[in-house]
Amino acid sequence: MKGIVLAGGLGTRMMPLTKITNKHLLPIYNKPMVYYPIQTLVDAGIRDIMIVTGGNSAGDFLRLLGNGEEFGLKQLNYAYQKGEGGIAEALGICEQFGRGERIAVVLGDNIIERNIIEPVKKFAAQAKGAKILLKEVHDPERFGVPELKGDKVVKIEEKPKNPKSKFAVIGIYLYDEQVWEFIKRCKPSGRGELEITDVNNFYVEQGTMTHDVLEGWWSDAGTFDSLMRASKLVAEGGANKK
Ligand code: DAU
Repeated sequence: MKGIVLAGGLGTRMMPLTKITNKHLLPIYNKPMVYYPIQTLVDAGIRDIMIVTGGNSAGDFLRLLGNGEEFGLKQLNYAYQKGEGGIAEALGICEQFGRGERIAVVLGDNIIERNIIEPVKKFAAQAKGAKILLKEVHDPERFGVPELKGDKVVKIEEKPKNPKSKFAVIGIYLYDEQVWEFIKRCKPSGRGELEITDVNNFYVEQGTMTHDVLEGWWSDAGTFDSLMRASKLVAEGGANKK
């Protein structure tokens, strides 16, 4: 399985912190944000990783990460997203890299307490389709939210005003090869982006989407409040625990 970290976009929600640097290079306690999603993939046994960067400070990723030696990697692959056309657009840039294998995608601002070893194992045993990870949250309206019937996801809504469950679809996605075709079917949303939720809904409609509930805490870090929360959680107990 190959891994992809999406660290594109312009981080406009976090001005002026992102005026001269990229959101994913901001600190989460004692490390730059992008270290955490890379570690999540490495801990799951994934060694072939591409990072999508964007904005003005893309060169800083190379200076910071090099060939990924700090993570025990021999090589890191980089891609560049112009502007912020959405998570699915950023993923689409990786088609050439990702084709031919299943992929694990982690959003550059998603930090987890533990690891994704079990879900990755289960996904490898799944005949086809995709797997998402859910986490119960107090503010689902900020995220992609699943509608559940029994233990099945029947639809995912992006930032719904009236969430149909208390769960967030976290920013870690496991996909088979169909993902590249599904991305091509996406149309820009109201906010002008190609939405990863639309990609996920193609799998839901096909009946091949599975889900697990993530163990341990999870936080995004794309707002001032969540950035502070993530730093606090990491400082108190550490992230990416085995
Ligand atoms: O954190 C989980 C949530 O992430 C999901 O529950 C939502 O369904 C999903 O849409 C996403 O929501 P956000 O609105 O929080 O995504 P945001 O625009 O903050 O982007 C998250 C990361 O994705 C960002 O840190 C880098 C990457 N990204 C985003 C955009 C818009 C890109 O690489 N390129 C992009 O154009």
